[in-house]
Amino acid sequence: MFQSSLQFAKDLDANDSLASYRDQFHFPKTAEGEKKLYFTGNSLGLQPLNAKNRIGRILDEWADYAVDGHFYSEHPWWDYHERMAPKLAKVVGAEPSEVTIMNTLTANLHFLMVSFYRPTSTRYAILCEEKAFPSDQYLMKSQLKFHGFDFESALIEVSGNGSAPTTEDFVKAIEENKDRVALILLGGVNYYTAGVLDIETITRVARSHGITIGWDLAHAAGNISLKLHDWGVDFAAWCSYKYMNAGPGSLSGVFIHKRHHDQSSIPRFEGWWGVDKSERFQMNDSFKPAVGAEAWQLSNLPILALAPYDASLDLFEEVGMASLTAKSKQLTDYLEFKIREIAEQTGYPLEIITPQNRGAQLSIYIPNNGRAIFDHLCENGVVPDWRNPNVIRVAPAPFYNSFEDVYLFAERFKDAIYSTDSSVK
Ligand SMILES: Cc1ncc(COP(=O)(O)O)c(C=O)c1O
Repeated sequence: MFQSSLQFAKDLDANDSLASYRDQFHFPKTAEGEKKLYFTGNSLGLQPLNAKNRIGRILDEWADYAVDGHFYSEHPWWDYHERMAPKLAKVVGAEPSEVTIMNTLTANLHFLMVSFYRPTSTRYAILCEEKAFPSDQYLMKSQLKFHGFDFESALIEVSGNGSAPTTEDFVKAIEENKDRVALILLGGVNYYTAGVLDIETITRVARSHGITIGWDLAHAAGNISLKLHDWGVDFAAWCSYKYMNAGPGSLSGVFIHKRHHDQSSIPRFEGWWGVDKSERFQMNDSFKPAVGAEAWQLSNLPILALAPYDASLDLFEEVGMASLTAKSKQLTDYLEFKIREIAEQTGYPLEIITPQNRGAQLSIYIPNNGRAIFDHLCENGVVPDWRNPNVIRVAPAPFYNSFEDVYLFAERFKDAIYSTDSSVK
């Protein structure tokens, strides 16, 4: 279905209804002033052009209104994040009351553990994937330690058969450990392989055994189609600086399923921004929770950090996840086609370790010379991502990468192989 030529890539771009969105983003440039071939939106998404304006607007309102900006500026700050929630809810398949924006990802997962990791003497284990993202490992181990459990026995790390664990591996592990697992915490999209888990199936199996299940959606939000509400996920959190393009270290999104909203028994660490708006500034001693995920809020929010997230959500609102994921699939499939072509032409040992069920990323395992190839790419206007010991991650983001980008990446990848290994003819 795909063809090799540059013209073919250009034709795909000409027929791409999202092609113009590329111009809505700033690209890093080469010394010659050319746009770099940016394939690291899975780590830090590019800056939307309107981010600067949106931040500038807050700075202006701060200058003009000072403290009155909280309530009386054109875009009041006290509920700024609430106006973002309906847009964000569409990205993750939630009801607006089920999402909120606060803190950062690891901090949020810790706070969510207060509510959703409630171990008993018999049911205390946490089930996760082997080689989970390091911050998640530290999080789970420190939570177990905090609750007095030994992580050697209380952390069940599910392994795959020589590769990342699959949905089937998790289902089997849940069935085997159902009586001792208190919480399951998994990455929806594996950060290393980019494989997507069947969140719906794993959630259903977990819940059928009365096990609470949460998802780290750092690599999933804004990347794959999600239906967190319909799938019955208990809770989820994600960062906004990858596919959500909200800027370095920007705030984290949180999902808490509606069925948990009215439970007065649910433990939670609380702060004044979680108080119902009708009472928030009455400075009462008692905590009247806001409706929904908002009740988990703690502090008044850093509006300057929210502003680019808001700018980015406007683009998501315009485009919609259905169009983005459709382009993403075509773009990543095309990348796979080009890499397989190179492997054939050069006979070089390249292995795509990303399964077919994936988002906007391919992880290429290069056993011998990977780092030299990666360095050569970086020296030649490409921005891919390196993961030890020998994987190059390449993430074509449908918002701003073109098919021509992918074509040019493949050309430079081939050059890098020839230039760094003289045994390749
Ligand atoms: C899968 C995953 N989980 C957690 C984190 C940690 O995020 P933060 O530093 O925002 O807490 C990251 C960061 O890249 C990640 O990729």
